[in-house]
Amino acid sequence: MAGLADIIGLSGKINVQGENVQKMDEFANNTIKKRMSRCGYLCAIASEEEDDVVPVAEGYEGKYTLAIDPLDGSSNIDVNVSIGTIFSIHRRRSSLTMGQGTLEDLLQKGSEQVAAGYIIYGSSTMLVFTTGDGVQGFTLDPSVGEFYLSHPDMKIPERAKYFSINEGNSRFWDEGISRYVDYVKDVDEADGRPLSARYIGTLVSDFHRNLIAGGIFLYPKDKKNPQLPNGKLRLLYEAAPFAFLVQQAGGRAITGDGRNILNIVPESLHQRVPLIIGSKREVDMVENFLLGRV
Ligand code: AHG
Ligand code: MN
Ligand code: MN
Repeated sequence: MAGLADIIGLSGKINVQGENVQKMDEFANNTIKKRMSRCGYLCAIASEEEDDVVPVAEGYEGKYTLAIDPLDGSSNIDVNVSIGTIFSIHRRRSSLTMGQGTLEDLLQKGSEQVAAGYIIYGSSTMLVFTTGDGVQGFTLDPSVGEFYLSHPDMKIPERAKYFSINEGNSRFWDEGISRYVDYVKDVDEADGRPLSARYIGTLVSDFHRNLIAGGIFLYPKDKKNPQLPNGKLRLLYEAAPFAFLVQQAGGRAITGDGRNILNIVPESLHQRVPLIIGSKREVDMVENFLLGRV
């Protein structure tokens, strides 16, 4: 773990390929790459911070692939708001005798994940993951340096208490999203509305809160940036791992245009998808609005 001096030195931005990357993003990426490329279990790594497939160290090739968002919530680093790390693991398709894994090993559907999870660096540090048999949450005890099982078999409440969406984009939303957001603000005591708004801007943290308290997170496609017709979030290391987690917790994740996140076959490493995820009843309701059933 970085010391205080390192952390102070890690604030601020650097410029990589014309994009602002926080120094902490780069630090997290390099740390994870270094540790995981010699763990012996992986054959290839995809990272949000790398254009191409990252090979593992020679002689350490294993049976699995790893897709990571090394540091999620970059805009919150310098303002001391919680951030996280997201991971997704698939079994390789190519033969182990091939050594290094391939792009095809990484471009697999979310439904084929063997494990997925996140670490949240908040008021405590937690590791939450699934291997396809429920969701388990562990809390770090810093005095011992170990994670303890604090949240066994996590289930997302079927009904949402919170809705999470960047309302600053509301002028660019499709009509169905606008109508749904109006609906959650309508007063209907018997139905538990209005929902409360909560938006952190770190997907890990918004998801974690909604997982525990019940909620819905939306990052829909919008008309703000024509270069990003599919919204902002990345399929391999943001949408798919959370879709696996939420399914295992009893919730649901969709794109809003008729697709289940877990069934999308990735075409490229950094593919983006619209994401609507959270409490099952609420995701069903958004779907009804978007498909014109309400
Ligand atoms: P990252 O920091 O890994 O680039 O991801 C940021 C993502 C996600 O964490 C968050 O939900 C979303 O960006 C927030 O985007 P807006 O600032 O556009 O709302
Ligand atoms: Mn992210
Ligand atoms: Mn990131």
